[in-house]
Amino acid sequence: MESAADMKAPVVEAKDVHKNFGTVQALAGLSLKVMPGEIYGLLGPNGAGKSTMIKIITGLSEQSSGEVRVLGLDPRESPLEVKSKIGYVPETTMLYESLSPRDFFEFVVSVRKLDKKTANDRVSKLATAFGLEEYYDSPIATLSMGTKQKVTIIASLIHEPPLLVLDEPMNGLDAKSSRIFKDVISLQSQRPGRAVVFSTHIMEVAEHLCTRIGIIYKGSIVAEGSMDQLRAGVTTSGGGQATLEEVFLHLTHEEEEVAETSRALREAFSTPTV
Ligand SMILES: Nc1ncnc2c1ncn2[C@@H]1O[C@H](COP(=O)(O)OP(=O)(O)O)[C@@H](O)[C@H]1O
Ligand SMILES: [Mg+2]
Repeated sequence: MESAADMKAPVVEAKDVHKNFGTVQALAGLSLKVMPGEIYGLLGPNGAGKSTMIKIITGLSEQSSGEVRVLGLDPRESPLEVKSKIGYVPETTMLYESLSPRDFFEFVVSVRKLDKKTANDRVSKLATAFGLEEYYDSPIATLSMGTKQKVTIIASLIHEPPLLVLDEPMNGLDAKSSRIFKDVISLQSQRPGRAVVFSTHIMEVAEHLCTRIGIIYKGSIVAEGSMDQLRAGVTTSGGGQATLEEVFLHLTHEEEEVAETSRALREAFSTPTV
């Protein structure tokens, strides 16, 4: 029987997406579906294809083959419409360094043609939540990486996008800001019809935040489900419940590699050098 969620239209749908960079196959038939209300985590090691998939969803890059729909739209055919429905936080912040956060937010509000009063209210609430006020008039160039990250996150939320897409969003954020940011993600997913897709290589982030996790390895999803569903597929040596780390290493066949590295390290540390 179909649940209510099944009958709603997906916010993101990707079918058999391939992406080649010359001879490098970054995506090898990736499929996923993100429904309204979901916080979907793309979890995988460096080089797995996370950023490549995210750029295709946002319309910044085109797939070599396969289909992608964002709220029913093809990002290749409707790039501007898709961009207006997405809040995007890239892996590395791309900001106008000579502007202050205040100027930059004003710029975003005008480019997106938003109602100034509503947007400014929203910006100042977010700035207060993230503790950004004291940097509000400093050139972005002088801000720390974490503070720049906060500016990018606030800018991505100004137009109240139905879909938030975040590439490694916790990079550079201090503990307090990550906590606030986690709240932002949860609140976003609770608004009707909205969803969040984010990538991370940090298991705790995925474990605590996502309603569903897709484990991506070598350009495709090798397992998908809630934490409990993912755990159920793995037996631990101790007979207890598998941690996400164990699930992850098992699925990506990196258990042997990790064991091998640990052995080599132990040997290196135990070999006398004098
Ligand atoms: N613009 C590019 N040109 C060539 N190779 C790329 C490019 N972008 C990504 N790749 C390659 O595609 C693979 C996936 O990269 P990426 O999507 O950035 O991985 P992740 O974000 O999971 O770390 C890697 O092998 C990477 O080197
Ligand atoms: Mg990446």
